Amino acid sequence: MCGIVGFIGGEQAAPVLLDGLRRLEYRGYDSAGLAVFGEQQGLQLVKAKGRLAVLSDLVDGGAKLEGTVGVGHTRWATHGEPSDANSHPHLSNSGRIAVVHNGIIENYMEIKEYLQSQGVVFHSDTDTEVVAQLLDYYYQGDLVEATFKVLHRIEGSYALGILCSDHPGQLIAARKDSPLVLGYGEGCNFLASDVTALIKYTKTVSYMEDGELAILTRDGIQVYDALLQPVEKERSTVDWDIADAEKGGYEHFMFKEIMEQPEAVRKAIAPHIQNGQVVLDGLGLDADFLQSLSRLYIVACGSSYHVGVVGKYQLEQLLRKPVEVVLASEFRYSNPLVDENSLVIVISQSGETLDTMAALREARRLGAKTLAIVNVVGSSIAKEADYVLYTWAGPEIAVATTKAYSTQLAVLMLFGIWTARLLGRLTPEREAELLGEMLRIPDKIAEILRHTEEIQYYASLYFNHESIFFMGRNLDYAMGLEGSLKLKEISYIHSEAYAAGELKHGTISLIEDGTLVVALASYAPLFDKDVSNVVEVKSRGARVLGLTTRSRAEEMAKHADSLIVIPDTDLMFLPSLAIVPLQLFAYYVALMRGCDIDKPRNLAKSVTVE
Ligand code: G6P
Repeated sequence: MCGIVGFIGGEQAAPVLLDGLRRLEYRGYDSAGLAVFGEQQGLQLVKAKGRLAVLSDLVDGGAKLEGTVGVGHTRWATHGEPSDANSHPHLSNSGRIAVVHNGIIENYMEIKEYLQSQGVVFHSDTDTEVVAQLLDYYYQGDLVEATFKVLHRIEGSYALGILCSDHPGQLIAARKDSPLVLGYGEGCNFLASDVTALIKYTKTVSYMEDGELAILTRDGIQVYDALLQPVEKERSTVDWDIADAEKGGYEHFMFKEIMEQPEAVRKAIAPHIQNGQVVLDGLGLDADFLQSLSRLYIVACGSSYHVGVVGKYQLEQLLRKPVEVVLASEFRYSNPLVDENSLVIVISQSGETLDTMAALREARRLGAKTLAIVNVVGSSIAKEADYVLYTWAGPEIAVATTKAYSTQLAVLMLFGIWTARLLGRLTPEREAELLGEMLRIPDKIAEILRHTEEIQYYASLYFNHESIFFMGRNLDYAMGLEGSLKLKEISYIHSEAYAAGELKHGTISLIEDGTLVVALASYAPLFDKDVSNVVEVKSRGARVLGLTTRSRAEEMAKHADSLIVIPDTDLMFLPSLAIVPLQLFAYYVALMRGCDIDKPRNLAKSVTVE
């Protein structure tokens, strides 16, 4: 959602804060701001609507702001339009206290009205400003005490960074339902929404828990629980490098992350495959519980939900148990038929998506066991789920997910194969055969990535279309959903994915001369039906970009205007290959349309609001 960063140390704070914000821009990018305290200048506040570059220019890359302690923010507007006034940090009326915030203060209206009745004047439409003004209202010289009172008064979600000109030797951080990481440097310390913001400076971090408050000084960080009792935080070492969070010569993070997929998938699966068997040591789920399950649910949002749609087809085949795949935002309000005989699998790259988190809590409340498939270590969803499988995709910066999606697919399949064995539904031979092919998937993805120019060419043929349909059956339908989402997210072309058999029940009326249909026909058992659907849309004037496997390419080429060919593989792994050209197609189309690929309009990578 929004990104926050804080620094306290010996060097000039503003360039460090800007560097951190640059790495957090994927969380929101409609405005940004800094508050820095300097001995000469006091509390300096600069904020600006627009991309971070606008702010950076205003302060000459940070050089104009004097001081070694500060907080910064990059915003994705929720309360109040993107504007200079609504940007963070928000300053209290005394001019003493600056606040950056990620999350939503749900009872802000009530507090605002109360403070207004006390004569406090507000300067923005945000929920966050009430925190700054309320701090001022409670402040009587002790910032920690005032913060403590504020935390008891506000409701909702927050990651807060607080700087007070009366106490320039400290920064205060607090967290509830919004991520906050503390970074331990030498002679300096950090707070940030995400480790990417501080990895350049330190790899030693700890993750704040809900209800905790931290006081950062140059020399240390002290964390307190909700009763203000000191807490000993466990420190961990981040196991990836700054280079992973940089573009490394690529023009866009999205392209870099597409190209990283062979390695990412290899890293996600290889440690779990030993001697022809899936090994999920330490997961904690046992065969008796899995046997007792009446139903599995997969609950997620966006692309992670699309992994679930793939997973439904795969897991039902493997386990012969019903699998429901539900959008997290629907699940939580649908009084779901979940009980202690259900396993609810939540999938989330960020581990912070609010709807997914709420669904997880609802599932637990109803007595289900929960398994999280998550990329970000230490994230809220990973912490709250009963069982966790990490995808180990490394940092994903582009808003449109690619490598995280591919690793989610791979990890869900691992889980499916493992469970199928425990349930006695998979012979050792079939398991070894499946895993042998799974280990070849990274190379097959790499093979597709060696022919990007072909996809680029198709993008050049079709990038000026204004409406595109994806169609396919079974796993191809599931792939179409994600291919279509990728395209609309970053190229702003209207696009829809249809189960090919459903097209004739309405949507075919939209097909006219020249309409582009991306026909996914990799799922061999239904190939002939796919071809019939291609003939159907072609006879209504559609242009068809087909996608199939090498062994069916010759037949498909007779019907499609253009054809993407992927290597043959076991049916179970088709999605892992088919998605790659669709990601590339979306990327090149967006590139040719001049779109801002890594930061598409109106989107944010991590959505921590409803
Ligand atoms: C946002 C992103 C999507 C993502 C979805 C779920 O909407 O823009 O790309 O798929 O959130 O995110 P998660 O982190 O839970 O996988």
